[in-house]
Amino acid sequence: MAEKKKFDAVVIGAGPGGYVCAIRLAQLGKKTAVIERDTVGGVCLNIGCIPSKALIKASSTFEKMQKSSDMGFKIKGLDVDFKALQEWKHSVVTKLTGGVGQLLKGNKVELIKGDASFISKNELVVKGSDGTVNVQADHIVIAAGSSPIEIPGFKFDEKNILSSTGALALDKPVNSAIVVGAGYIGLEIGTFLAKFGTQVTMLEQAPRLLSTYDQDVAQVVSRSLKKRNVNVITNASAKAVKEKNGMMHVDVEVEGKTQTISAEKVLVTVGRKPNPMPGLEKTGVQLDAKGFIKINERMQTNIPGIYAIGDVAGQPMLAHKASKEGLVVAEVIAGNKSAKYDVKAMPAVIFCEPELATVGLSEIDAKAKGITPMVGSFPFAALGKAIAMSETDGFAKLIGDKKTGRLIGAAIVGPEASTMIAEMALAIEAGLQVEDIALTVHAHPTLGEATMEAAEVALGHAVHIIQRPNAH
Ligand code: NAI
Repeated sequence: MAEKKKFDAVVIGAGPGGYVCAIRLAQLGKKTAVIERDTVGGVCLNIGCIPSKALIKASSTFEKMQKSSDMGFKIKGLDVDFKALQEWKHSVVTKLTGGVGQLLKGNKVELIKGDASFISKNELVVKGSDGTVNVQADHIVIAAGSSPIEIPGFKFDEKNILSSTGALALDKPVNSAIVVGAGYIGLEIGTFLAKFGTQVTMLEQAPRLLSTYDQDVAQVVSRSLKKRNVNVITNASAKAVKEKNGMMHVDVEVEGKTQTISAEKVLVTVGRKPNPMPGLEKTGVQLDAKGFIKINERMQTNIPGIYAIGDVAGQPMLAHKASKEGLVVAEVIAGNKSAKYDVKAMPAVIFCEPELATVGLSEIDAKAKGITPMVGSFPFAALGKAIAMSETDGFAKLIGDKKTGRLIGAAIVGPEASTMIAEMALAIEAGLQVEDIALTVHAHPTLGEATMEAAEVALGHAVHIIQRPNAH
């Protein structure tokens, strides 16, 4: 006989959506459990955002040391021990996952280990190594996450054909790698490998790199990849792969012609798909054509008492979007009638070189919506702090609505762009004007001055760059 447990609310999945939701539910007085088959923290903490940022930081440090002779450093015999690097990465991950475990405990959220499947709309069975538990709850939140998409013929073996999971676990340097799909993950991991000296080829099926971003923004990343000898092939579709003599040979179709490219490893990063939720068909919960669970702005599915958040509930597949949805749904379950997901500004960051962070509309998006944009860009090459850091690639770009003067978007491609984008998200959420950014004193010398300067450019009175009259 399976043990029976009853809760006010149960969350399936302890990733950045699920654990945040469970903690908030408990804080709001709900008897809450979270079900997780693996270590808490989800893809983000265990095999995604956090380990990748640790390795990206390590590769940037390595590259900086190699290129530090301008600053007077004389470094001989610089090398990296990948096993030690992996151990350090592991210590970063365990520190954080351990912290999440403590937070769940401290908030009195019960963690049930195992695989959950629905028996009915308010009942789950959880099979774990310690046995089977029957869990009942008035409210069930599905936060089951996503997994990498495979392309036909490229089955992940995590040895030669890698998903992000295998790529983040490499314990030896790689001489050469082919990255299929130059999106978030391909660019981040491709860059980290290139900084450690891997000869990287990126295959991207779109006609240009970062095709959904403004061209000026994408160009900064393209140039940086070129500088690191990364060969980017666009309009490219990977068709087949075979292993011969320890090398992987990939047939690539480029504009109708097939060529073969060889490398030690192949990394496939062509997107992620929602994880299926076993037994969901018994509940009547509706999915969309792509397999995402359909929800409304209160994270409710079509079945009362069942909710979905994070990657299972659609794009953008971002950890911080999942966490936000988790907080919203906790309020909804606790009875807050006005709680809803009404985010105006969802920042997104690609941790490539330099970092690329965006929020709100791009210039092309704004034009497509019929808005006349008021644009200002300020180059890091003209900013004291960036010059002192020797990190001058890129710029901060603000997009305002010419009619209202409001800030409607920002793109920062440059050092610490990931940190600076927070100010722009706040400004858009608060409905600020581009002028408000220009009028706000930004400490000198800091990278943050770039957005203030970009606002001045948009308004036509830049001090630190020469502006042609009527440039915008
Ligand atoms: P993605 O959607 O960002 O990029 C996939 C790329 O692969 C696209 O550029 C697409 O045109 C290309 N592609 C698709 N099929 C192809 C094919 N057969 N041959 C060549 N190119 C092909 O997906 P990615 O990088 O796998 O990331 C998945 C999700 O994970 C993203 O949607 C993102 O939201 C999330 N993520 C977020 C990160 C962050 O916030 N820093 C970091 C990593 C992932």
